[in-house]
Amino acid sequence: MKGKFITIEGVEGVGKSTNIANVEAFLTAQGIEFIRTREPGGTVIAEKIRELLLDPEIESMGELTELLLVFAARAEHLEKVIQPALNRGVWVLCDRFTDATFAYQGGGRGLSLTSIEALQDLVQGELRPDLTIILDLDPEVGLARARERGELDRFENEAQAFFLKVRAAYLSIAAANPERCLVIDAGQSLEEVKQTLEANLLSKLSYLGISGE
Ligand code: TMP
Repeated sequence: MKGKFITIEGVEGVGKSTNIANVEAFLTAQGIEFIRTREPGGTVIAEKIRELLLDPEIESMGELTELLLVFAARAEHLEKVIQPALNRGVWVLCDRFTDATFAYQGGGRGLSLTSIEALQDLVQGELRPDLTIILDLDPEVGLARARERGELDRFENEAQAFFLKVRAAYLSIAAANPERCLVIDAGQSLEEVKQTLEANLLSKLSYLGISGE
């Protein structure tokens, strides 16, 4: 049987790393074999594309260039890492995926959703995540956390208005895909987020008929 594909999304500073670790612990406790990976990145070439995409020294990058670089990295990642794992029956836990493109390049930059959908079909064929966890937080809070971490990358340097659009795009993706998406309020304490996540993961996986058995 094919592995399941879980993605995790949210604006900057939303606590993705901590919560990915929580999901990893949850999957391990369920006896599910999985790999953890990230986008943009996950292969040698895709990590080099990530460096370009995040480099704060690059002051102007064309929006179409950015979109195509994101999908170039994704094509590489899918071919070398994601598809082979799923085909072996191994689950994939991915830190961001194409919903980030709809949110950042579509919502944030205002690129046409039709173009993104066309690239999605070209690069992914029919592959879509089985489950997407969207950590939701006021971008003002998230950006303040991101700033505390140190030097900002090319996206983190964007104005707050950009992240308000990114957040709104994530929420409309969730509203349009309620079965696939799990929205978690990341404004709660870390422990509360962890507990909400675990409780929801368990019911979502059983509702979707997904289990590690
Ligand atoms: P992060 O993985 O450390 O959060 O950083 C990745 C950055 O790349 C983040 O600001 C979102 C951005 N990004 C896009 O703009 N489009 C995409 O499709 C993906 C996967 C990420």
